[in-house]
Amino acid sequence: MKKLRKPIVAGNWKMNGTKNSINQLINSIKSQLPKINSNAEMIVFPPFVFLDQVSHLLNETSIQWGGQNLASEIQGAFTGEISAQMLQEFGCHSVLVGHSERRQLYGESNELVAKKVKLASQSGLKPILCVGETLEQREAGQTQTVVAKQLNTVLDEMDGADAISNVILAYEPVWAIGTGLTATPEQAQEVHAYLREQVTIRDRNLASSMRILYGGSVKASNAAALFAMEDIDGGLIGGASLDAEEFINIYKVFE
Ligand code: PGA
Repeated sequence: MKKLRKPIVAGNWKMNGTKNSINQLINSIKSQLPKINSNAEMIVFPPFVFLDQVSHLLNETSIQWGGQNLASEIQGAFTGEISAQMLQEFGCHSVLVGHSERRQLYGESNELVAKKVKLASQSGLKPILCVGETLEQREAGQTQTVVAKQLNTVLDEMDGADAISNVILAYEPVWAIGTGLTATPEQAQEVHAYLREQVTIRDRNLASSMRILYGGSVKASNAAALFAMEDIDGGLIGGASLDAEEFINIYKVFE
């Protein structure tokens, strides 16, 4: 499948894996790559402690890696936090920011997320900003209001188009994450188009080049239908990214 914008297939491993399972997963993905002619970028997001191992395993491959989160401060007395600079030192290309698990379980506000996205971008990392509504919000007809607020709080904080051009968006409806429920391609497309429209208000060129990924129970069996939609530029994949064959089959959609 060919797309207007360079697609991305990203794997969010969350808090999963051991040194051993990660070796196996990566080696299995790597062994299949030469047979695949996908034009998508592949990025994996391991837990922090495995970044060094992953950087060695993926060195000299086309697969990139990133952090699942970053600190909102540059450095100092912030026990348990990981800075943008540390991620860069381990070769990270990008970083997830504002994943719904961070927002819901760790109380990350739109303002904190905005600060992190700005800092990531200033440090030369590509922030993947995650937005999405809960089931309650969707049922109350608030999807657009919620995602617009999540997006615009961040864009307001950024200094101009250059900074914004680093940002990759991920629409991840909270009700579809890890639940086996997937947004239909039409439901997802509607929100993706709306998000792009929000960026268009600021800058038309920026909006047309911004990648917007879909996340929420993406599997090999539903990926092609989702990725065929005009404004869906790839996926952020949780559960299915821990299975080399599933993940590769999702990546193959872009052959
Ligand atoms: P899932 O997770 O694919 O397991 O639903 C997606 C995500 O949280 O990024």
